[in-house]
Amino acid sequence: MSPTQHAVDAPSVMAVDGLVIRFALRRGIGAMLRGGASHFNAVDQVSFAVRPGEVLGLVGESGSGKTTIGKAMLRLYEPKEGSIRYRHQDITHLGGKALRDIRPHLQMVFQDPLSSLNPRHSIRTALATPLLVHDRVHPDQVDGRIDNILRQVGLPVAFKHRFPHEMSGGQLQRVAIGRALILDPSLIVADEPVSKLDVSVRAKILNLFKDIQARLGIALVFITHDLRVARYLCDRIAVMYFGKLVEVAPTREIFTRPYHPYTRALLGTIQNVGSGPPLAGEAFNPTTDRQGCRFYSRCPMRKDSCLHSHPPMESVGNDHRIACYEWRSAAI
Ligand SMILES: Nc1ncnc2c1ncn2[C@@H]1O[C@H](COP(=O)(O)OP(=O)(O)O)[C@@H](O)[C@H]1O
Ligand SMILES: [Mg+2]
Repeated sequence: MSPTQHAVDAPSVMAVDGLVIRFALRRGIGAMLRGGASHFNAVDQVSFAVRPGEVLGLVGESGSGKTTIGKAMLRLYEPKEGSIRYRHQDITHLGGKALRDIRPHLQMVFQDPLSSLNPRHSIRTALATPLLVHDRVHPDQVDGRIDNILRQVGLPVAFKHRFPHEMSGGQLQRVAIGRALILDPSLIVADEPVSKLDVSVRAKILNLFKDIQARLGIALVFITHDLRVARYLCDRIAVMYFGKLVEVAPTREIFTRPYHPYTRALLGTIQNVGSGPPLAGEAFNPTTDRQGCRFYSRCPMRKDSCLHSHPPMESVGNDHRIACYEWRSAAI
């Protein structure tokens, strides 16, 4: 599906509104001596929607809250504030059977495929389990379904008799993708699914995501710290900075008209994103910095007025939203 077909006003697969995920601070001695807060919002007032059939990239440096959002979307965390809607259903505080019933529709692929596969289970068992747990197919049809999924993810059918230690990282990630697909989900969240793999297989796995997504039309949220990957794969890109969504726009907009100074900094350092903070200045400190724009301490466009409160998301046209009081200075 081409980006233009993801109508802006089509009903979303998932809508996240004002989401707050709060964690207890992992307090070191330094933090205890300084005093300060005992909790912080790893995800703070974040709103966005995932449109049917799109690939939405979630980018930002390490610690910005990407994984936390991804897990929250699958209701692996309990939101502190805000809401999460899956199609027409409010799932923010869903529990018990109602939550179990929607789980098959929402799947996650993790960075490290080994962490999500039991080393004592054959690939066949790994793939059969979700089918049997959710009572999706007659036991006679399990193997047919497994063979079909293995073909879809580009693995020989005979691999179902293998165990995780008999396979390479790329092959294991194909299994993890197959397991995410086997219950016909509506949404997959893939959390840096190629960053632990050998460079030589990354492109193959990215292409597998691209193929599967195009063929099945599943909505995909693709978390990455690598903007080149996001550019290759995503229809839209959402940029996170310390728990805040700071910019979201179609991929071409992000690369041709990045308005947020953080996005511009990321693009300027596209060669070494992920190898450390790309910016000068102290990063936002959730224990001591409470007010104002979280990017203030590093921002080249900052004004005193940016310290009053964190800027709200504002629509600037072209399906482009941004949280910056000074974005007009960048829009030349
Ligand atoms: N379970 C947790 N308990 C406490 N703090 C957490 C937990 N998970 C993540 N964090 C903190 O939340 C912030 C965001 O983490 P994360 O979502 O993993 O970021 P990213 O995926 O962008 O690297 C980080 O400061 C991290 O240390
Ligand atoms: Mg992460």
